Amino acid sequence: MDVLLIGSGGREHAIAWKLKQSKQLGKLYIAPGNAGTGMCGQNVAIKDDDLAGLVDFAKTNKVGLVIVGPEDPLSLGVVDAMEAAGIKAFGPSGPAAQLEADKAFAKQIMRASAVSTAEARVFDRFSDAKAYIASRDEPVVVKAAGLAKGKGVIVCDDPSDGILAAEKMMVDKVFGAAGDRVVVEDKLLGEEASILAFVDGRNIYLMESSQDHKPIGDGDTGPNTGGMGAYSPAPVVTNDMMNKITREILVPVVDAMNRNGTPYKGVLYAGLMMTSGGPRVLEFNVRFGDPETQPILMRLQGDLLEVFLAVCDGRLDEVALKWDPRPAICVVMASGGYPGAYEKGKIITGLKEAESLEDVVVFHAGTVERDGDIVTNGGRVLGVTALGRDIGGAKARAYEGVDCISFEGAYCRRDISDKALQRS
Ligand code: AMP
Ligand code: GLY
Repeated sequence: MDVLLIGSGGREHAIAWKLKQSKQLGKLYIAPGNAGTGMCGQNVAIKDDDLAGLVDFAKTNKVGLVIVGPEDPLSLGVVDAMEAAGIKAFGPSGPAAQLEADKAFAKQIMRASAVSTAEARVFDRFSDAKAYIASRDEPVVVKAAGLAKGKGVIVCDDPSDGILAAEKMMVDKVFGAAGDRVVVEDKLLGEEASILAFVDGRNIYLMESSQDHKPIGDGDTGPNTGGMGAYSPAPVVTNDMMNKITREILVPVVDAMNRNGTPYKGVLYAGLMMTSGGPRVLEFNVRFGDPETQPILMRLQGDLLEVFLAVCDGRLDEVALKWDPRPAICVVMASGGYPGAYEKGKIITGLKEAESLEDVVVFHAGTVERDGDIVTNGGRVLGVTALGRDIGGAKARAYEGVDCISFEGAYCRRDISDKALQRS
């Protein structure tokens, strides 16, 4: 079967790498892809938000399945557009994708399904948000309600910072229209975890747990990024906790989406805070996480294409997957300056050396091929991912890979997985 994969990040390279292992795969096209996906299939120069271009390509090339990586095309309704053209597509419909694209809608669904989350209020006017934040003593978290590439959340330790954050979003429009509406919520304390599940509208299949590292600096300091590294499994999530998360979060939300007339299929990602009172939802994403997908798919044993088809056909209950018991760790190498301004076009060396290490895969994110070289083309550039006998072994191997690779201004966190190490 020929497949079109939409996206260009590390997540998409990991999906493409895993799909390549499927015996059912015919041609693999990636739109627009990166230098890494170009080694797994054929990149096609169509932007991920060019819905008409993508549908046209899928029709002309008779692809049997379209897989959507990022949230933007999902919320624009790319799955609906493909299905209207008679093409099978993996991912939620546009209305269901609002679970990520509109944080106010997500809060409404959580309320309707009694899912545990932070207390929150939604504001359309800065003066109202300001008055509310000023009336509170506790720290707040201010979130742009719309999509802001994982950067639209500001955790504030006192009300004056909260007011400044709301002003930046609602008045200065630093996140554009995404900040027209903000959600102000209580700050939760605990360790975070990402739980990803395949959902076919009815059946839910939980993947192994993982943990992201959102802030740019070691020890979780500095501004939030799209994610600087991840590992799987996350020891903070015990088996009992996984059952509780299924029972008290995923099942009620999938039911609430059905009742709302926006049935859910695709990957449902719950970003959780493991508080002393149990798991509470920070956000839902309607797709695979990036970089969580890199370590998760390194550990997945089984046919990913078969899972995607089962989700589309509503027969996820027939699928059985196995997981490599060894942990995996992904360390993101970023361009100097990210998540602020950064330069592109820096030549990357040492990729072959890193990949020749046992159980190491270098997933590309912001890379492009230019005149025979692979050069940087984005903020997050590579995700060096390794399996190891234990967390310590996986960490040592991932950083051995990182240390083989150079490009001008390269930056990475040095503490990916330390929280897991402290628990083991
Ligand atoms: P979100 O995109 O909503 O997951 O937020 C991005 C990041 O901000 C999360 O991964 C957390 O690190 C942090 N965050 C979001 N909401 C809260 C909250 N209510 N309490 C504490 N931290 C939060
Ligand atoms: N790693 C966080 C995300 O994918 O949104």
